[in-house]
Amino acid sequence: MLAALPLAEPDPLWALISAFRDDRRADKIDLVVGVYRDASGQTPVMRAVQQAETRLASVAASKSYRALSGNAAFNDGISRLLLGKDNEALDRQCTIQTVGGTGALRVLADFIALVSPAAMIWNTDPGYINHRPIMRAAGLGVKSFRWQDNGTGLDIDAAIADLANARTGDVVILHGCCHNPTGIDPSTEEWRRLAALCKDRGLIPLIDMAYQGFGDGVEEDARGLRHFAAELDTVLVAASCSKNMGLYCERTGAAMVIAANSGPLANIRATLERITRANYSMPPEHGAAIAACLFENPNTWLAELEESRQRVTTIRGNLADALADCGAPEKFQALRRQKGMFSLLPLDQRQMSRLREEFGVYGTANGRINIAGLLPDGVDRLAAALKAVSGAPSLARPVRASA
Ligand SMILES: Cc1ncc(COP(=O)(O)O)c(C=O)c1O
Repeated sequence: MLAALPLAEPDPLWALISAFRDDRRADKIDLVVGVYRDASGQTPVMRAVQQAETRLASVAASKSYRALSGNAAFNDGISRLLLGKDNEALDRQCTIQTVGGTGALRVLADFIALVSPAAMIWNTDPGYINHRPIMRAAGLGVKSFRWQDNGTGLDIDAAIADLANARTGDVVILHGCCHNPTGIDPSTEEWRRLAALCKDRGLIPLIDMAYQGFGDGVEEDARGLRHFAAELDTVLVAASCSKNMGLYCERTGAAMVIAANSGPLANIRATLERITRANYSMPPEHGAAIAACLFENPNTWLAELEESRQRVTTIRGNLADALADCGAPEKFQALRRQKGMFSLLPLDQRQMSRLREEFGVYGTANGRINIAGLLPDGVDRLAAALKAVSGAPSLARPVRASA
């Protein structure tokens, strides 16, 4: 058996992470890893999470198996976070706890493959690096639709033109907010156009909400999803608590299926549970129990999340100011308008290599940077490096990352 094992390429992101670790330059800048960092470069446990953990430790009664759908209080809380606490759609949706946002995507992919195996999945180009592999792993076909225009904004006309080729029953993956990797989100009017298109053509939206609270605010970031929920009979939602609760390693997320009415909900739940039962049986309790505490008593958590959101927005503004001050090309000013932790730099692979080799600035090969990885003392240096690589080619001898 093992003789037939095909060669698996190592994950390119992890290769960059090791190259950064091995780089001996003291002023290197890591913009690769997709985690929030505070102004001291840490990815701290939120205070609200620490308080919840203390409370949970003192009342823990048993580690016995829980329900296949996971923690019921968590499922209730996250559905209200996503849809809003008084949304009528709460009565026609089914939510189960999953193993992070990735687990939610995979459970929904298996659900689609079971119910409608011929459905094509439409994915933004550029898009989140793991959407395609997850959908393909469930046996589904994947096609792309354009997202970014030649500059740095959303090309809604191109997206709609490409999606005109989708057939009834096909699934369209949309990022609920803070599009990864571009940071380019639809305006209210553009969300309306996308929803109208899905409705007219019988397309099923799958809204991936991995950064709620990092764009314009917790409620504002859900406006696209809530519009879809109001307009369409079927909406799939994958949610992650990795970023907005800092629960990365606790693997806490949710898969939601919204139906036209409450009629099919019991069958939807049973189907989702059969999918998870044949995979990991049930999700881990700890992260969901923490999240349930945060939903019950949200003030400290929401204040901390707002602090993180403002830090990301401030860095975006400071970087855009520094780029303007040093005379970098105008196209970089889009960094100010884009949302959330990620932006796709208007640089090619060669320029990204120069950033890494000459300036010790690590982003992904396709130009993605994590804005939250930028510390206050790195802003001017990054602006100068971006200006340098976007101009004439350097004659300087590159310093090897592993040197
Ligand atoms: C768009 C998007 N969806 C899903 C995920 C997966 O989230 P999780 O870490 O909770 O599995 C990520 C994580 O980076 C993401 O960016």
